[in-house]
Amino acid sequence: MTFTNWYNRTLNKIWGFVEDRTSMKKWALRPQPEFTFKPSYWTGAFVVNAFLMQVVTGALLLLYYQPSTAPTLTACGQPLATYSVAPAAWCSTYYIIHSVPLGSLLLSSHLYGAYAMIFLMFVHFFRGYYLGVYKAPREFSWMVGTLLMILTLGMGFTGYLLPYTQLSYNATNVGIVLALRLPTVGPILGPLILADGTSQGLLSRMFDAHVLLIPLGLAALLYAHIALFESHGIAPPATSDPVQRRRFNEKEDKSSVPFMPHIFWYITKWGLLYVGLILGIAALWPWSLPTYVGNVAAAGVVTEPDWYFLWLFKFVDFQGVTPVLAIGVTTVLIVYVLFLPFLDRSKRTHPRDRPLFIWLGTSLLEFFVLMTVWGGETPGVQILPMAVAETVGPLFVVTGIVVALFYWRYRRSYLRRLAARGMPFAGAYPLPSTGTPAPVAASEVSSRE
Ligand code: HEM
Repeated sequence: MTFTNWYNRTLNKIWGFVEDRTSMKKWALRPQPEFTFKPSYWTGAFVVNAFLMQVVTGALLLLYYQPSTAPTLTACGQPLATYSVAPAAWCSTYYIIHSVPLGSLLLSSHLYGAYAMIFLMFVHFFRGYYLGVYKAPREFSWMVGTLLMILTLGMGFTGYLLPYTQLSYNATNVGIVLALRLPTVGPILGPLILADGTSQGLLSRMFDAHVLLIPLGLAALLYAHIALFESHGIAPPATSDPVQRRRFNEKEDKSSVPFMPHIFWYITKWGLLYVGLILGIAALWPWSLPTYVGNVAAAGVVTEPDWYFLWLFKFVDFQGVTPVLAIGVTTVLIVYVLFLPFLDRSKRTHPRDRPLFIWLGTSLLEFFVLMTVWGGETPGVQILPMAVAETVGPLFVVTGIVVALFYWRYRRSYLRRLAARGMPFAGAYPLPSTGTPAPVAASEVSSRE
């Protein structure tokens, strides 16, 4: 017996024992169809991987970080004169970077890991949006996902203040002013965020939220998200034909691959690559700490949030956009995303068949990217209504025209292809909502339209 055979058999035996004793196959880490061996099917797993790395690096940072605004007596491990008035939160961050072995690598990988987690979450979100994975029966998976997105952004927001730099302090205050304008929720959030109204109260609340409350919420929602995913199975490739989609599920159910060792190793491989990349980037470009809150030399510091909130900051720079309006628009966006499964009611998942929602989603993505770049280039610079109309208007119009042309071009050719194969397009007729699906040629099923 070769070593590989022996190794695989032993691993399978151990896993079989665990699976048997926990009835795991019924509720978690279930076998998945063969077609899922592509990274695009595991974008959510990559976010989980990023979250786990944040938990580990965050727990290590907790060993040294002090959530206090009191001027430090230890002077950040430097000669006393240097930073004797700097707040302890900033000093402990300075200490991590300059005095803790591998501290700079640890802090930088926590920061870049947060960026990567948020970026991957957006990839996961937009993939789901374009491929219509939110359609029945996955509506609740989508809604829980939306709540996960809000909490993940909340992690970024609360973590930003913790190094207690003037830059992060200013930006957090702007964010809090906006959050307090939220209808109904704002007045409730006020005392929760501001505590006793002192800066120590604010830092303590942000710290509690960042290291305990939001991670607990994330873990609970993640459990629900993954449980829902396991109960419905992975969404099949997008298609124009709901009948074909059902067939696909039936066919793939029979060719599923066990979680252990195949899927486990597949995800572990990507997970290790991710950890290596983040550590590599953190080692090559370590984060440098901006100056502390209260440093008189920092009076002219520009107020700027992390990249994922730049779009909102830029939005407030538009002339006539008040905080109430900005928060109103954000609320509308959240409600749109949350209830999307109930707005896009057609049974077809292929982007080709959903021009309105593809136009809305693409415009949203472009708006987000444009505002982020704009916010990074000109933070705090007021933008006049004419400049807004000239920049954003053509974007939405051109996107609309491009989507309409694609819709016209590809739907027609798709219909022609189906007609040539002697298969009428289900969309041309009323859809069979229940009952046995009509026979579909095997080649049709595997073409994964
Ligand atoms: C912290 C953020 C999130 C995490 C950790 C996460 C995790 C996951 C995981 C592990 C899966 C299983 C399939 C896969 O690996 O892709 C999944 C599927 C899914 N997620 Fe998320 N997710 C997050 C955010 C979101 C968001 C923001 C949405 C949408 C609003 C969303 C909607 C969905 C849906 C609909 C599925 C089922 C997709 C399918 O069956 O192919 N998730 N998610």
